[in-house]
Amino acid sequence: MNKTGLNNLIRPLVRELHPYVPGEQPKVKGLLKLNTNENPYPPSPKVIQAVKAAVDGRLRLYPNPSAEGLRARLAKLHRCKTDNIIVGNGSDELLALATRAFVEPAATAANRRQSRSVYRLNRSAARLSSASTIQYFTPSYSLYPVLSSIHGTTQNAVHLNPDFSLPSIGELRRAKLCDFRAALTFITTPNAPGGRGYSTAALNELCHWMRGVVVLDEAYVDFAGEDAMELALKYPHVLVSRTFSKAYSLCFQRVGYFVGHPELIGALHKVRDSYNVNGLGQIAAEAALADPTYYQRNFKTILGTRDQFSAELAQLDFEVLPSQTNFVLTRPPKFDAQVWLKKLRDRKILVRWFSALEVRNYLRITIGTPEEMARFVKAAEAILGAA
Ligand SMILES: Cc1ncc(COP(=O)(O)O)c(C=O)c1O
Repeated sequence: MNKTGLNNLIRPLVRELHPYVPGEQPKVKGLLKLNTNENPYPPSPKVIQAVKAAVDGRLRLYPNPSAEGLRARLAKLHRCKTDNIIVGNGSDELLALATRAFVEPAATAANRRQSRSVYRLNRSAARLSSASTIQYFTPSYSLYPVLSSIHGTTQNAVHLNPDFSLPSIGELRRAKLCDFRAALTFITTPNAPGGRGYSTAALNELCHWMRGVVVLDEAYVDFAGEDAMELALKYPHVLVSRTFSKAYSLCFQRVGYFVGHPELIGALHKVRDSYNVNGLGQIAAEAALADPTYYQRNFKTILGTRDQFSAELAQLDFEVLPSQTNFVLTRPPKFDAQVWLKKLRDRKILVRWFSALEVRNYLRITIGTPEEMARFVKAAEAILGAA
């Protein structure tokens, strides 16, 4: 069969899909990796020990299908029941499962092309459209629109304020751009790539008015002043998403979880793979939860480094947005952000640049060790000195 013939075997939706583009994972050594918000510190020695101890004949067995041990530990941590928790192959998997469990795909290609603003449609059409709408604030996690495209749903991207703060309910109502009936709304809190933290009071207000499922994506919450876990236990339609990737230095193991009402959690269990979380990942995450002292120390160090680095960048005339995460979003001086991206790459430093209009003038820089950030500052001084 020729190439065109093969192409015809692929669903049109998949043929047209623009997949999520992860940050570069370099194949060469010696690059300073400040581009994917990984934690610069290794997992607790107890985690390494537990994983090593589990590498034996058990590898031939399937892992616990619902990560029961880990869910029990998480339930204790969040003072809820194991039924309130589902564990996933990274929180990304759970975000995808939420689209499958809660959002109707738009029935036809024509539907897929329909207006992004449901308020332009008449009321009953709008209601139908809300059932297949995935809503998210923009800029935020660039995976959400991709998940929507994969599932063939309508997207409603609601703009954050120009300083990336959350619009109030009054502002959302006046702008008529938020669909309070959207089947699924993702809210990244603290926000990425902006870094801004949102108050639980503001999130509470939003959740109160939303009629569909709301996922509060708290991937970076351990670096923030506040968390909104209480909302997942207060509102039946609210789920909180967490990950072991960032704060717990376990990107490699792929473990994330959702907390929420047993009925929604049960629906997610129905659509997941039978053994969705690998056994070593379950063991690593459990061991991580058993060593909070180690991680609290790391969180503190990262926050200290973030504040010092932000101050040093500001001295070099970078505009630095306030961050409650393990990264900063910054508008660099003198050259365009994309030029900086290349100049830094030439000096073996990787950072992240996004082409979206609201953030294309910024760089997202992950907080590494103090030594790594000093290397960045030195490179930035050299780039500015050579200008
Ligand atoms: C906002 C946000 N949510 C979720 C994730 C995914 O985390 P995980 O590694 O658990 O899939 C990321 C990863 O970068 C993220 O930035």
